[in-house]
Amino acid sequence: MSLAARMLNLKESGTLKILDKVKSMQARGIDIIQLDVGEPDFDTPRNIVEAAHRAMLEGFTHYTPSAGIPELRDAVAEKLRSENGLDARRENVIITPGSKQALFYAVMSLVDEGEEVIVPTPAWPSYVEMVTVAGGVVREIPPKGGFSLDIEGIREAVNERTKLIIINSPNNPTGHAYSEGELRALSEIAADHRLFVISDEIYEKILYEGEHRSLGSFPGVGDLVITVNGFSKTYAMTGWRVGYASGPRDVIAAMNKLQQHSASCPVSFVQKAALEALKPDTPVRQMVEEFRRRRDFLCGELNRMGAFRVDPPKGAFYLFPDITGTGMESVELCSLLLEEGHISATPGEAFGGFSRNIRISYANSMDRLSAAVERMRALLEKRL
Ligand SMILES: Cc1ncc(COP(=O)(O)O)c(C=O)c1O
Repeated sequence: MSLAARMLNLKESGTLKILDKVKSMQARGIDIIQLDVGEPDFDTPRNIVEAAHRAMLEGFTHYTPSAGIPELRDAVAEKLRSENGLDARRENVIITPGSKQALFYAVMSLVDEGEEVIVPTPAWPSYVEMVTVAGGVVREIPPKGGFSLDIEGIREAVNERTKLIIINSPNNPTGHAYSEGELRALSEIAADHRLFVISDEIYEKILYEGEHRSLGSFPGVGDLVITVNGFSKTYAMTGWRVGYASGPRDVIAAMNKLQQHSASCPVSFVQKAALEALKPDTPVRQMVEEFRRRRDFLCGELNRMGAFRVDPPKGAFYLFPDITGTGMESVELCSLLLEEGHISATPGEAFGGFSRNIRISYANSMDRLSAAVERMRALLEKRL
């Protein structure tokens, strides 16, 4: 008896593995300050919780159409038309149990055995693993000048086997948001070579400067871009598992076939909650302002320590500081932070081999962030 061959190269989620270790230390009574988490520490807004509750009490607890309830698909399409400049109708939209699932369906629907997928790094680790399951080959393209896209590097990586590019802006782990110029240049590469692009826009609303621009709104790529987004980050709904994708009808129809034979449909009452979340009065601004305060605080403190270098990123809730000044590589520093400082952070290694960076999430309270800074300062003074 052996596992399927496709499982042999598949790695465990590095970020979830750290979480397991943190949980086991916490179970031993150790007070860990968690800076590794990828989820808002806020409660889901009350209007959303009440909508789910109402739906359950009204008996909306059965299977729904596999691609999602029509009114939610319509509301998402309307949001994508009015806010993102995409030409989306109901048939272009699928609702999924989390955006991760949408990404998985999209990769499985598009990538054949041996086809190449360009992933600009640093990148969220699941993209690489999803392509691996599909039998594809990842071409990682490191950034140029800070965390900007290496447009020339991407252009040069394209060959006859290239099928897909996956981008994520604002980005996990760097918080970097690609400029209009970078996105335009990328859209031109996609249009010239007829490449699909998955644009993961899950941090769209967690943006501190400038306007979010969707890749699918650039000319010439309307039938090539699959836009993925969800409710986890914007509405603090990570545990509800609801996201969506929008794209060409045939791609969405293929993704829906995968959904029919796996999840069947997203959770019924969660879809009603998602519909409520999209209403304009759902409070989002306060959360983003609080994230901005924490970003500014943490960037200032890390730079003051001397061993870290970080520019305030434009979005998401992560910092990806350069740790060269600590004299350690990312795995060693993260172990030290966890074992001796009782602070969890994620090694830059996990995002495409960035051993000179660590990912710090500031989705934690100001009090905890201040305490983390104190612990880090004490630890580094002892070590350096
Ligand atoms: C870049 C990125 N995409 C997608 C996801 C998945 O989000 P969800 O499946 O909760 O919608 C995450 C979550 O951490 C993420 O950071």
